[in-house]
Amino acid sequence: MNKLGRKVVLIGSGFVGSSYAFALVNSGLASTLSIIDIDKDKAIADVNDLMDASCKTQSPTLVKEGSYEDCKDADLVVLCYGNSQKNLTNRLNDIKIASRMVVDTIPKVIENGYDGIILLATNPVDVISKVVQKVSGLPYNKIVGSGTNLDTARFIQYLAKEVTCNPKDVEAYVIGEHGNSSVALWSNARIKGISIDKFLDNIDNEDKFKEEVSEKIRDKAFQIIKGKGATHFGIANCLLDFTRAILLDEKKIIMTSAYLDGEYNNKGLYTGVPAVIGANGCEKILEMDISKKEQEMFDKSCKDLEENYKLAQEVLDE
Ligand SMILES: NC(=O)c1ccc[n+]([C@@H]2O[C@H](COP(=O)([O-])OP(=O)(O)OC[C@H]3O[C@@H](n4cnc5c(N)ncnc54)[C@H](O)[C@@H]3O)[C@@H](O)[C@H]2O)c1
Repeated sequence: MNKLGRKVVLIGSGFVGSSYAFALVNSGLASTLSIIDIDKDKAIADVNDLMDASCKTQSPTLVKEGSYEDCKDADLVVLCYGNSQKNLTNRLNDIKIASRMVVDTIPKVIENGYDGIILLATNPVDVISKVVQKVSGLPYNKIVGSGTNLDTARFIQYLAKEVTCNPKDVEAYVIGEHGNSSVALWSNARIKGISIDKFLDNIDNEDKFKEEVSEKIRDKAFQIIKGKGATHFGIANCLLDFTRAILLDEKKIIMTSAYLDGEYNNKGLYTGVPAVIGANGCEKILEMDISKKEQEMFDKSCKDLEENYKLAQEVLDE
């Protein structure tokens, strides 16, 4: 597919959606970006602002106010709607609100003939990925949730700071729920192939240090929201990574909320794991070696997600 054929439809243009749109326009990856928002004035204002930005890029993107008909020949649909982050105390409070948004929007996407990949950041993203799959009826691999992508970026930053190195030299992952039960994988964290433990020798209480970093990863969003009402730049660039991998069929390994069918000993839910992302969405899940304690924490995270999904199911049963 060349750039002439790359059409992206964004649904929900708030903090996250408009930041993603800005990142996408700057990247020059898409030929057309259609923006749909229930708040039409906001969508039109973003379109006009982004066209000014687009005009200054190397490879201008046509940004336009979208309609669901644009999904007909879209190459990617991206969901960035959701409950305002200002009210965020626990991402689970958003389940029913976000599920209703899915019920309101996804049938219109599908009715217009769309059968491509749906990428989403809408929280709680693991539960909502499953809701999108159920409502759309699309194959599991076509629903790509942002999962623990941002959590992983945060883990990498803390380790790079501790070791004083470039984040690009850190290999570290967070799996499980994008939320309170996320699991930072200390057992396979490495700096250029060297186990992280080798760098933590001068720390008095290593277990306490690890627990504190894991907690900081979970807490960072709340700290940013306290300061300015939303987190949006980080997730925008995470979504751009997925977009590039899907539109260019990069087969890139990205932390994704992917559908588990027995991987990591769990099945029937979407959650954060490393996955190969390409033109077919989530093409393969990679199973890393993790410690017994990490497996137990992951199992608990999956149980929590299954429990939480029941709230979404109530909306689907209404
Ligand atoms: N996955 C992640 O890592 C991550 C990170 C940050 C935020 N988020 C999530 O992203 C979502 C959006 O956050 P935000 O700060 O941009 O919120 P926001 O309130 O600024 O924007 C939401 C937008 O969605 C629109 N909208 C609502 N219902 C709609 C519908 N039915 N159809 C079309 N548009 C609709 C609203 O008008 C608004 O413009 C939230 O669920 C938030 O928790 C996820």
